[in-house]
Amino acid sequence: MAAYLVCVFLLFACVNSLKYDPTWDSLDTRPLPPWFDDAKLGIFIHWGVFSVPAFTSGAWLWWEWKGQPMPAIVNFMQKNYRSDFTYAEFAAMFTTEFFYPEEWAEMFQDSGARYVVLVSKHHEGYTNWPSKYSFNWNSNATGPNRDLVGELAAAIRTKTQMKFGLYHSLFEWFNPIYLDDKYSEFKKQNFVRTKTMPELYELVNAYKPEVIWSDGDWEATDAYWNSTNFLAWLYNESPVKDTVVTNDRWGFGIPCKHGGFFTCTDRYNPGKLQKHKWENAMTIDKYAWAYRRNARLEDFLTIEDLLSQLVSTVSCGGNMLMNVGPTKYGKISPIYEERLRQMGQWLRINGDGIYGTRPWVHQNDTVVKNMWYTMKKAATETDVYAILLEWPDNNLIKLGAPITSKDTTVSMLGYPETLIWAAGTGGKGINIQIPHMSVKTMPCKWAWTFKITGLQN
Ligand SMILES: *[C@@H]1O[C@H](CO)[C@@H](O)[C@H](O)[C@H]1NC(C)=O
Ligand SMILES: *[C@@H]1O[C@H](CO)[C@@H](O)[C@H](O)[C@H]1NC(C)=O
Ligand SMILES: *[C@@H]1O[C@H](CO)[C@@H](O)[C@H](O)[C@H]1NC(C)=O
Repeated sequence: MAAYLVCVFLLFACVNSLKYDPTWDSLDTRPLPPWFDDAKLGIFIHWGVFSVPAFTSGAWLWWEWKGQPMPAIVNFMQKNYRSDFTYAEFAAMFTTEFFYPEEWAEMFQDSGARYVVLVSKHHEGYTNWPSKYSFNWNSNATGPNRDLVGELAAAIRTKTQMKFGLYHSLFEWFNPIYLDDKYSEFKKQNFVRTKTMPELYELVNAYKPEVIWSDGDWEATDAYWNSTNFLAWLYNESPVKDTVVTNDRWGFGIPCKHGGFFTCTDRYNPGKLQKHKWENAMTIDKYAWAYRRNARLEDFLTIEDLLSQLVSTVSCGGNMLMNVGPTKYGKISPIYEERLRQMGQWLRINGDGIYGTRPWVHQNDTVVKNMWYTMKKAATETDVYAILLEWPDNNLIKLGAPITSKDTTVSMLGYPETLIWAAGTGGKGINIQIPHMSVKTMPCKWAWTFKITGLQN
């Protein structure tokens, strides 16, 4: 009897722990942990040695200096640094003396974001944590002398309700072991065996990130990167197996086809409903992912631009991952801070039409431009949210898509009274009359959410 029980127990344990095979067929069947689709907004943080030069190419400076030289970068380096200066020397200047992780945590929380994705290592190979696999090229050994990943993880978890996630680049432009594999046409896997994989396991075990945002995959196949073996471990056995979400950048040809949520290309925002959960990874600075000392005010998206991105993304089934580039001394500059806090100001009033919503049958209206729909199903009713990015002439909106019933009600988020409406001509659509509002009575600036219940569609 006892032996039989042990057998049953072992069988159960085995079946349970081998839920996913290291194949895309199997991994792709894993349901996305629900927190991710409900969260809608995350903050992306590009921070590393590249934050020291903080010039035009952002995180790509080393490559555009030494890999595929761009005249503007080569000239900048020639003009401002010794002729024998090496990129590695920037690391000592990555000082982070004003990095107060709790201050970042408060600011991100105030933006209304529900998760954070920090760059743990970009293509330059420098690790923002004291990795055992990155001798002398990590944030504890050179530069900050701190565990940047660990400090931010702790602040996010103790001070906020947000999820903590990590970006990680599979390849490193100039790592000699990687280059050796590359010159063997990826027949060797020494870099994967001794660097990429040990480092990824180390990251997951030490910091338990609930997002793994993989990148730098495109030069080699998923077989070279051993991606499906890592993901099978992540989903079956890792300390975050039940809650972790991953993206799709796991090897040449994989993005937009396999993995967790799809990121496809940078700033992906297809403008129509997608079958698979996706994410629009974009930057507040239109031209770079990392801090740029030479940025001008007009280079930054306005809050109206950002809301247009957010609303169109969520309406079509996506999440938005909005990027900031902190300085080498650890501050998030006031222009980024203003955008984050404006986003939070808007979401505190309009969040019901964003968080936890699902796409409706229509994404944008059939008649009114600059208007996007979302939807939330409750036990007995369906709420449709119509989010308007431009205030209408004469305070009158004539929407084409909704089909009203006698039970239809319309309200505006942040405004106490219900609104007067009438069916459109021939019973199609809905005309909504908005009461006159002064700047003082208007619930928010920039974009307005109408909640419509009791529709037939
Ligand atoms: C970080 O650096 C300090 C001082 O150099 C060292 O004592 C410590 O062991 C390092 N921490 C890790 C986790 O490597
Ligand atoms: C790939 O992953 C499997 C399973 O963890 C492991 O046995 C194998 O050594 C890995 N190969 C490389 C090159 O990392
Ligand atoms: C709705 O969105 C599609 C795709 O972005 C666009 O082609 C169409 O013009 C939009 N409709 C309106 C009324 O703006």
